Amino acid sequence: MTNKTLCFAFFFMFFAYLNYVPIPGNIEEPWKVRIVDAGMKISSLMAILLENMGLMKFEEFFVMLMGVQDTRPVSDENITVIDTDFGDIPVRLYLPKRKSERQRPGIIHIHGGAYVLGSFKSLSYDSMNRKTANKLDAVVIAPDYRLAPQHLFPAAIEDCIFVIKFFLQEKVLEKYGVDPTRICISGDSSGGALAAAATQLLKDDPEYKNKIKAQTLIYPKLQTIDTLTPSYREYEHGPFLSRKVAITLACLYLSEDKELSKTVLRNAHVPQESQHLFKFVNWSDLLPEKYKKNHIYTEPVFGNLNASHPGLMDSRVSPLLVNDSQLQKLPLTYILTCEHDILRDDGLIYVTRLRNVGVPITHDHIEDGIHGAMLFSTAPLHLQLGLRLIDKYITWLKENL
Ligand SMILES: *[C@@H]1O[C@H](CO)[C@@H](O)[C@H](O)[C@H]1NC(C)=O
Ligand SMILES: *[C@@H]1O[C@H](CO)[C@@H](O)[C@H](O)[C@H]1NC(C)=O
Ligand SMILES: *[C@@H]1O[C@H](CO)[C@@H](O)[C@H](O)[C@H]1NC(C)=O
Ligand SMILES: *[C@@H]1O[C@H](CO)[C@@H](O)[C@H](O)[C@H]1NC(C)=O
Repeated sequence: MTNKTLCFAFFFMFFAYLNYVPIPGNIEEPWKVRIVDAGMKISSLMAILLENMGLMKFEEFFVMLMGVQDTRPVSDENITVIDTDFGDIPVRLYLPKRKSERQRPGIIHIHGGAYVLGSFKSLSYDSMNRKTANKLDAVVIAPDYRLAPQHLFPAAIEDCIFVIKFFLQEKVLEKYGVDPTRICISGDSSGGALAAAATQLLKDDPEYKNKIKAQTLIYPKLQTIDTLTPSYREYEHGPFLSRKVAITLACLYLSEDKELSKTVLRNAHVPQESQHLFKFVNWSDLLPEKYKKNHIYTEPVFGNLNASHPGLMDSRVSPLLVNDSQLQKLPLTYILTCEHDILRDDGLIYVTRLRNVGVPITHDHIEDGIHGAMLFSTAPLHLQLGLRLIDKYITWLKENL
């Protein structure tokens, strides 16, 4: 196949999808969302096509697309932007220029991308972190942790923990003028899983407990053991993030074995000996009535996977898989969920569980929200929704950090 044929196929499918994609009625700027969604659907078709032709792997096509958006560290009138390393791990720092009477809050933002994609270099993350630093007069740290499939579990969480601990050193906080009592760990999507897991781990670490003031989780992914919650069912085909793409990519972090994602897609990946974990994500129990709709909870089907996939049942991948006493004493928490999102119920269940054990929590549910909306806050495809989400996140930080 020539490039021309490929391009033709791409545009043909793109326009075909534009008309076909059903968009929920309450969504703002439906045509823009349609373009975003059609773009995503075509990209996954292209990725499958290219993989079948032996030209590149499924995920490589997405990596290539994301890379188009990469930015260099450019300072502006308000913020000094620096790319550096914490240990071996690349980080981008956003340091406000204006003079400050007091020390600043510090925010570590962990980007999303299903453990496979994304970088602090991405235009959307760069612009969001810059805005956070500017509006809050805060120091923002954005790590580029190691990604899958080159680096399997637990590479990503280990890097995030390393960066946070590095930043929390007295001499580092002092160097950047950061107030040690105003530190927040933040993350979106799979970055939300990393942020939630890091917050849990640090709380249990005698040297670091009480050093984190807050966590902010934006449409977080918080478990991989039940991939048929009501939101996974209702938004299986998006908008934007489909169940298949999310699972295919996320499984690359857990195993080199391609069978894993197929088994997870069938929701038959949890071995019987891990049965006790289902109670932590039992949506029949933990989801508010309103979101259960007509869905019937069925007892999970057991698979015969075994310890060859060590991350699968690990709370560092699925922060929901810890008992209530491990959730107690988590810091002040902000969770943002979007209605039109397969990961909606992950967030809602964490809200219920944290409330049950008395963790102070603010929950914003965006009725017309779609997964990944924050990524669309810059030209050429900026959604009002994306800006709205970022404003909510920043407003909460302003009032609470
Ligand atoms: C710098 O901050 C001011 C005040 O918040 C704002 O109006 C301006 O747009 C900012 N500049 C940039 C490049 O973000
Ligand atoms: C899930 O919750 C329902 C309702 O409380 C209960 O009947 C069921 O046994 C639970 N299942 C698991 C696996 O925890
Ligand atoms: C785990 O599964 C793999 C792949 O199916 C198999 O090769 C291996 O023998 C199994 N290990 C155990 C301990 O059952
Ligand atoms: C919760 O889990 C921890 C760690 O696995 C364990 O030490 C503790 O006993 C458990 N607590 C309860 C109430 O089950």
